[in-house]
Amino acid sequence: MKRLLRLGNSELQKKAQPVTDFDTPELHRLVKELFNTMKANGGVGIAAPQVGVPLQVVVFGFQKSERYPHANPVSETVMINPSYKSEDGVTYEDWEGCLSVKGLRGLVKRYQNISFNWYDVQGNYHEDKASGFRARIIQHEIDHLNGMLFIERIADLKYFGFEDEIQAIMKETGTKLA
Ligand code: NI
Repeated sequence: MKRLLRLGNSELQKKAQPVTDFDTPELHRLVKELFNTMKANGGVGIAAPQVGVPLQVVVFGFQKSERYPHANPVSETVMINPSYKSEDGVTYEDWEGCLSVKGLRGLVKRYQNISFNWYDVQGNYHEDKASGFRARIIQHEIDHLNGMLFIERIADLKYFGFEDEIQAIMKETGTKLA
């Protein structure tokens, strides 16, 4: 398991580089380490910069999440050099956390429906559409590749706090407790 970098580490603020060599032992090892680190920390997604590797590699997916108990399962995916765009411009707010900002939650506006594309470990190109929480994870992880954490997207810091303290405010907003 790799060490997880946390808020304040400047590596988290750097833009990640595109992967140019696919299907290498190093890339396979990185993907494995990302899944291990994500699972050991109970996460639903993780990006390579979070373990100090400045490459455009993301893994996400879970069957059941203790961190997001109300979320439906999301199939495990490895995304390399990914990008996304909004399908219709529709946004919604919901609660987000991050393994690099563990213990804190904030209300963040994201696109509801996106189309996205990426390469897999072998270098095959893929396209898909996503909505809701799955789309939220993808947008959150791609932010990491651009050196951005979700806390920068919190419009009102009243809606930012420690998980165990912010329950009342989470209910008050009427969004689901993702
Ligand atoms: Ni994160």
